Amino acid sequence: MPAITIIGAQWGDEGKGKATDLLGEHVDYVVKFNGGNNAGHTVVIRQEDGTSEKYALHLLPSGILTAGVTPVIGNGVVVDLAVLFEELTGLEARGVDISKLKLSASAHVIADYNRQLDKVTERFLGSRKIGTTGRGIGPTYADKVNRIGIRVQDLFDESILRGKVEGALELKNQLLSKVYNRRGFTVDAVVEDLLSYADRIAPMVCDTGLLLNQALDRGETVLLEGGQATLLDVDHGTYPFVTSSNATSGGACTGSGIPPTRIDRVVAIVKAYTTRVGEGPFPTELFDASGDYLRDNGHEFGTTTGRPRRCGWYDAVIARYAARVNGVTDFVLTKLDVLDGLEEIPVCVAYDVDGVRHDEMPVNQSDFHHAKPIFEMLPGWKEDISGARSFADLPANAQAYVKYVEEISGAPMSVIGVGPARDETVIINSLT
Ligand code: GDP
Ligand code: IMO
Ligand code: MG
Repeated sequence: MPAITIIGAQWGDEGKGKATDLLGEHVDYVVKFNGGNNAGHTVVIRQEDGTSEKYALHLLPSGILTAGVTPVIGNGVVVDLAVLFEELTGLEARGVDISKLKLSASAHVIADYNRQLDKVTERFLGSRKIGTTGRGIGPTYADKVNRIGIRVQDLFDESILRGKVEGALELKNQLLSKVYNRRGFTVDAVVEDLLSYADRIAPMVCDTGLLLNQALDRGETVLLEGGQATLLDVDHGTYPFVTSSNATSGGACTGSGIPPTRIDRVVAIVKAYTTRVGEGPFPTELFDASGDYLRDNGHEFGTTTGRPRRCGWYDAVIARYAARVNGVTDFVLTKLDVLDGLEEIPVCVAYDVDGVRHDEMPVNQSDFHHAKPIFEMLPGWKEDISGARSFADLPANAQAYVKYVEEISGAPMSVIGVGPARDETVIINSLT
C-alpha cells in the first residue's frame, strides 16, 4: 500500500492525529501537506505501565511520534520557524527522535508582519470576522498566491531574502500604518529574524517531492496527513469561513509533489457527531443541553486556541459531500464513545431550505446558512463502549448506529474510535 492520504471530513478536530499515529507503525514517511500551526492534533499514547502520554502537535506531522518514521513538512505548508523549533525542543526533551525531519525548500515561511496582519484584519472585520487562529496563515498563503511570499530556500541567500522582504514590506507597511493604524516593520528586523534560523534548518531542507517519489519507487509507504478539513478547504469549504489552503485530498498532491496516480487510498476521519471552531454556518449546531453534553463528554475545547468548540449532531449530507470531493475509500468514525448514555441520537440525513428538501450541499452558500436539518432518530445505548475491540463487542444499538451512518455517508466505516488512546480502536477493515 504505497501512498495513503488522511483528511478531515468535517470542520476539523475529527481525530486525524490519532488516526495518523495509529497507522504510523505501518508507514515509512508521514507528510504534512497543507496548513501550518493553525492545526492542533492531540495524540495519546499508552505506556507499558498503563499511564498515558499526551502530545499536542501543531506544525509537525503526527507521524513524528512513531520511531522509524521520517516526518516531512511538504511544500504546501506555511512554516512558522519559531514554532517549529519550540515544538522540536519540546519533543526532544520528552525523548522523541526528531533527527529525521525533512523540510521542503519550497514551503513558505510565516513572517512577523503576516502574524500581525492576521490579527488586525480580524479586529477590523468586526462582526464579519472569520474567527481565525491568529497564526498568520491567511496572509502568508495570500502572499504565496500574490507572488510576494518568502520561501524556506530564500533563507540561504541573504541578498535574495532582503530583496523579497523589501518588496513585501513596501506593501505591508502601507497597509499596517495607513489602513490599520499600526507601526510597520523594518526590513532589517524581519531579515535578521528569518536568517537566525538558516543554519538550524539547513540539514533538514531538501526537495521533499523528489525524496517522496523515490521512496515510492522503492516500494516504501507514504502517509499524507491533512490539516484542517473538507469544509475548511478554500475551494470546497464554507467560504469565506474557511482556512486558506486545500485541505481536501487534491491538496495532498499539490502540497507534497506526489501525483494523484500514485495515491491508493483516501481515508477520511469523521466524528460520530460534528464540531466547528470559529465563525460560519453549521446546520446541526446545538444551543441547548445536548450541545453541552457533547462538549463536556467529548472535551471539545480547541488544542490550538483553547476555544470551546461548537457542537452538533452527525450530518450525513456533509459526510456524503466529503466522500465525493475527496474520493474517500474508507471512513474512520471517531469518538463514538462520546455518545454513550444518550436515550436517542439524531442523525441529519438532508436539509430543509425554505420548504425544499436538499439531499446534497446546496449550491448557494446563503441557502446553507439557513438550512434546517432533517433528522432521523436512532436509539442510543447505555453501555460504556471504551473497552470494545471488535465490532461484535459493541452494543446492538451502537452497531446499528455505525451501520446506519455508513449506509448514508458514501463509504465504508473501516475503523471506529472508542477512546483517545491508540488501542481504544475497533478495526473493521485494515487500512494498510
Ligand atoms: P485533529 O485535529 O483531527 O487531529 O483532532 P484533535 O486532536 O484536535 O481533536 C480530537 C480529540 O479527540 C483529541 O483530544 C483526541 O485525543 C480525541 N480523540 C480522538 N479519537 C477519539 C475517540 O475515538 N474517542 C475519544 N473519546 N476521543 C478521541
Ligand atoms: P485541525 O488540523 C479546527 C479554523 C479556524 C477558523 C478558520 C480559519 O486541528 O483540524 P485560520 O487560522 O486557518 O486562517 O482560521 O479555520 N481552523 C480550524 N478549526 N481545526 C483546525 O485544525 C483548524 N485550523 C483552522 O478556527 O474558523
Ligand atoms: Mg485539531
